[in-house]
Amino acid sequence: MEETRSFAIVTGASSGIGRALARRCAEEGFDLLIAADDPQIEDAAQELRAHGVEVSPLLVDLAKREGVDSLYDAAQGRSVDVLIANAGHGLGHAFLDQDLDELQHVVDTNISGTVRLVHHVGREMRARGAGRILITGSIAGYIPGTFTAVYNGTKAFVDSFAIALRAELKDTGVTVTCLMPGATDTEFFERP
Ligand SMILES: NC(=O)c1ccc[n+]([C@@H]2O[C@H](COP(=O)([O-])OP(=O)(O)OC[C@H]3O[C@@H](n4cnc5c(N)ncnc54)[C@H](OP(=O)(O)O)[C@@H]3O)[C@@H](O)[C@H]2O)c1
Repeated sequence: MEETRSFAIVTGASSGIGRALARRCAEEGFDLLIAADDPQIEDAAQELRAHGVEVSPLLVDLAKREGVDSLYDAAQGRSVDVLIANAGHGLGHAFLDQDLDELQHVVDTNISGTVRLVHHVGREMRARGAGRILITGSIAGYIPGTFTAVYNGTKAFVDSFAIALRAELKDTGVTVTCLMPGATDTEFFERP
């Protein structure tokens, strides 16, 4: 990668909001490390390279600790100017009718994976005294989600976590922004 350019990590960049955010970074001249758990991440990388920046795609399950760690390792020690922790997914139907492993995957992706990645990158940013973190929460975090009870609960966590971290990092040179989209027409609603 070209070290003189700024560098961003964007998770969930294969589709929807993350792909749009990654496109915005590429338009602004950022080299990119992008991640998703779907081969579509390769298509996204191809599209983003058209902006003349270096793009490394990584196919990884960010619900897993080793997945998050391998994403961080893939940055190869390069300073991260912008982290967009956006990967997340929901799960429909009544809580007791949902598969417990699938429910756990929602928690592990939306909460554990986000916390782990922000911890890795946030420490490096704080040590450098510079960096911007954007975390995708949701307005769903404000609303108990009947028939998406666990998803909405994870977003309540993410919204709260991001706002608290923003205050903790005040005056360190690291900013934290919480993106709280309303209903947005992406692949989110096509997933189970
Ligand atoms: N759409 C909405 O109305 C809405 C509203 C508020 C907040 N949000 C939030 O916005 C974020 C993006 O969602 P979206 O609407 O853009 O939906 P999307 O089109 O389904 O995109 C979700 C992205 O996250 C990735 N992802 C999900 N689980 C992952 C995992 N375990 N490991 C790696 N990548 C994973 C997906 O990749 P794979 O295909 O590989 O799984 C995909 O790239 C999510 O955090 C969502 O909760 C969405």
